[in-house]
Amino acid sequence: MKDSNFLKENNARHLWHPMAHPAESLNNPPTIITGGHGVRITDIDGHETIDAVGGLWNVNLGFSCRPVKDAISAQLDQLPYYSTFRGTSNDAAIELSYMLREFFADDGLTRAFYTSGGSDSVEIALRLARQYHKIRGEAGRVKYLSLKKGYHGTHTGGASVNGNSNFRTQYEPLMPGCYHIPAPYTYRNPFDESDPARLAQLCLSAMEDEINFQGADTIAAMIMEPVLGAGGVITPHESFMPGVRILCDKYGIILIADEVITGFGRTGSWTGSRHWGVQPDLACTAKAITNGYFPFGAVMIAEKLVEAFESDTSGSGSIGSGYTYSGHPVGAAAAIACLQETERLKVNENAAGRGAELYSGLKMLGEKFELIGDVRGGHGLMCALELVSEKSSKTPVGKDIITAIHQAVYEAGVMVRISGPNMILSPPLILSAEDVEDILKALDYGFSSVS
Ligand SMILES: Cc1ncc(COP(=O)(O)O)c(C=O)c1O
Repeated sequence: MKDSNFLKENNARHLWHPMAHPAESLNNPPTIITGGHGVRITDIDGHETIDAVGGLWNVNLGFSCRPVKDAISAQLDQLPYYSTFRGTSNDAAIELSYMLREFFADDGLTRAFYTSGGSDSVEIALRLARQYHKIRGEAGRVKYLSLKKGYHGTHTGGASVNGNSNFRTQYEPLMPGCYHIPAPYTYRNPFDESDPARLAQLCLSAMEDEINFQGADTIAAMIMEPVLGAGGVITPHESFMPGVRILCDKYGIILIADEVITGFGRTGSWTGSRHWGVQPDLACTAKAITNGYFPFGAVMIAEKLVEAFESDTSGSGSIGSGYTYSGHPVGAAAAIACLQETERLKVNENAAGRGAELYSGLKMLGEKFELIGDVRGGHGLMCALELVSEKSSKTPVGKDIITAIHQAVYEAGVMVRISGPNMILSPPLILSAEDVEDILKALDYGFSSVS
């Protein structure tokens, strides 16, 4: 590896970063991370911090997960690649499908379709939903519903159902036939309603209104995150997702749960859907399925679709979707080891416990600092602070202040993620109670430094 002078001189010079302005990256180069251990990362200057971002909501088991590393290296030696396109398979892909079926049994999901990541999983789910209706003779069901503030990756299908203009405007026109429902976002919503239960009902009414306006027989699917992640950890009332399920059933609409963040324990339950007592028709997974160590994903499929596809004799059930890396044996081997560790460590339970501690500490910070307008969390290890210049006006805080807080928190030993006005916390699920304390102390220091 080149020395640190070389790396700093060339940082962002020959590489455009995702979700960043290339010119800004040149002027303000990104932090270069060179090491990871446990829940901590180290930068090029040797500064160590707790990674309260958890990689990117994916390194649930931390950076030192030996079984996943060993599985990857053993699989590279045994079979570094083979395709799962029609006619061939590989041993790791088969073994993983058996394990996933068991893992997702309580969600009613019995088949896996492998992908290379979250955006890919979303595309596959959107496509399978349309195809399901075509197989059943309802070819007119082509539209999609989704939530404002939802995040579903940045492929064109995913961006079309995405609920944040940052990922849409520069890439329009997007896919036609996508309609957005207000999110159950109590801090800001068009109904001016701050009661979570009442807001959930208003959003459900808006969804039903949109279904009737579009015509139910034109709608293929509703896609939603059980807890909205990248949009700022928007935690719906417990009645919301069950209400969506009821509407989908009433109008023959496929419910796609985007579990790319919420799958594998982050909410404190094994899946976000299970957290709300809902069985989706399709679930998109990725990220923590390999602890972030290998790009991999899986769409999990419910019996309703299984029955339609597997009993089709017309040929319309043949799947015209897939990726070179679908079922990659190294990714599948990583996922097998990762699932075993995830279950052995019961990281869902730790996510629930540490998540409750983190959320309660954040609420105390919210009372202490005028800059913290809203504190969101309470469902495992996914929390956010929405920053405002003053609580009464809810005016979003300026970028310079949020950057200064971010820097101060980093210097105090914690990496957090800034997305628009939100500070997002999604640490590894193996976090300890002491780590939670350290995160809260660093945040306190960061906010104090600008207050
Ligand atoms: C809910 C959700 N869906 C889809 C994606 C896209 O996943 P990827 O970045 O792996 O393509 C993400 C990424 O953060 C996500 O949070």
